Amino acid sequence: MATKDTFYVTTPIYYVNDVPHIGHAYTTVAADVLARWRRLNGDRVFFLTGTDEHGQNIARTAAERQMTPQQHVDDIVPRWREMLGLLRISNDDFIRTTEPRHERRVQEFMQRLYDQGDLYTATYAGPYCVRCEAYYTEDELVEDRLCPIHRRPVEDLEQENWFFRLSRYAPDLLKLYDEHPDFVQPSGRLNEVRSFVEAGLQDISATRSAFEWGVPCPWEPGHVFYVWFDALLNYVTAVDFGADDEAFARRWPADVHLIGKDILRFHAVYWPAMLIAGGLQPPRRVFAHGFLLVGGEKMSKSNATGIYPADLVAHFGVDCYRYYFLREISFGQDGTFSWESMEARYTTDLANDLGNVVNRVLNMVGSYCDGRVPDPGGPPGPAEAALAGDHAAAVEGMRAMDGLDFKRALEALWTLVSGLNRYVEARAPWSLHKRGATGDLGRCLYTCVDMLRVIAVLISPVMPDAAGALWAKLGLPEVLGDQRLPAAAEPGATPVGARVDKGALLFPRLEEA
Ligand code: MSP
Repeated sequence: MATKDTFYVTTPIYYVNDVPHIGHAYTTVAADVLARWRRLNGDRVFFLTGTDEHGQNIARTAAERQMTPQQHVDDIVPRWREMLGLLRISNDDFIRTTEPRHERRVQEFMQRLYDQGDLYTATYAGPYCVRCEAYYTEDELVEDRLCPIHRRPVEDLEQENWFFRLSRYAPDLLKLYDEHPDFVQPSGRLNEVRSFVEAGLQDISATRSAFEWGVPCPWEPGHVFYVWFDALLNYVTAVDFGADDEAFARRWPADVHLIGKDILRFHAVYWPAMLIAGGLQPPRRVFAHGFLLVGGEKMSKSNATGIYPADLVAHFGVDCYRYYFLREISFGQDGTFSWESMEARYTTDLANDLGNVVNRVLNMVGSYCDGRVPDPGGPPGPAEAALAGDHAAAVEGMRAMDGLDFKRALEALWTLVSGLNRYVEARAPWSLHKRGATGDLGRCLYTCVDMLRVIAVLISPVMPDAAGALWAKLGLPEVLGDQRLPAAAEPGATPVGARVDKGALLFPRLEEA
């Protein structure tokens, strides 16, 4: 039997009642950066995203559009795929819950639970939010019986359904949380999950009979599976659960499910319980990030604060788009998007700090060294000591990526970018040139180009286009995509004599918006 050899990272699968906004893209970009980061570190990676296409909410949206649900989802899914291309998302697969490969395996998994007596029929009545596709208890509702997430009226729903014996798995869940305190991150959220389980788990309904848009329940004609059972199972159906045991064993359990905090309960309680019931291992880690706020509120289309990736990419470019959200907001906490803060990041971090040093260094190599990387003439000396410290701090700090602390990782990387700026100022290659100090000039400009190479490697998970452009300017013979850490960040690996090409500015001045 194969053993796990793949780093497996997922995003939630997105409801296709809508086109993607920056809140959805936030999770997707973060997952992409992690996937690229692990590939850079030499891991075999499987990065999954996709769309959640069943359920009452989708069926209603389709009806409003006077389409069949299938027509509606087929019409919207291409918009999601476009977003992936626009944002340079390097997913290895894209799963749609309407695909036969998924539906068949969902039925197989659920049949397993049924056969072993984990499902029973009962009637349930309670307040239901169609947007969440979830029941609430009365005391979870806010204001005048509104859904706590969507702040819209709930519906009183009474259905005879098949129920999953969730309550039976409470001891297994508590054991999971105790033995794997990193299962839920950030760590504060584990307490939230644990308290929820300790307060007493209710069994949850696993089928619906009031509508047809779902995966048919094999043992109960007229019932379809509750959309969350169907949706969560995407994480195993996409990696060949029930179809190819070897392929499945190489990827499962997932290393990390990236999700927003609103769907933590589904991922940290229901999902591991389903897996334990089905005899599968729970995922290794569930990381819940915060919400993007606009004007103090959760950004969403329904409160008219909807902002779409294409609008921002058109103005700031895709690299800044990817950089901004991860650098500006602590992953795990809520954070405010504003046009002004994005403009400030572009101007300060990208154009002034990074773009400028690239331009200056390559200009000087052009004018003082005939456009070729000069010979350093020996190992780095005392003049390079501070820069060497910044380099070491950046390489070390980038490891925060593994804990999904993108902000800290990027701050660390920028110590090197700023350090390089300081080094250029301190060494003043223009005066070395003027004084004819050829040896020092060679060492200084070699060191600068060498650090730009390291920077290109280290920014590549976050800003793949800018990294590629910078790499090309440096005239390096190897392919950026073949670089692997830690070797690729070692100083001194830049070949002498390579022809650099200043080319266009990496981050040109922004047009007036
Ligand atoms: N279909 C379910 C997930 C099923 S996973 C097995 C779903 N879809 S969703 O499209 O409504 O949301 C997908 C993700 O987008 C969630 O992680 C949610 O937190 C995230 N976001 C939606 N709006 C957001 C913000 N304004 N800010 C940050 N993320 C937000 O839930």
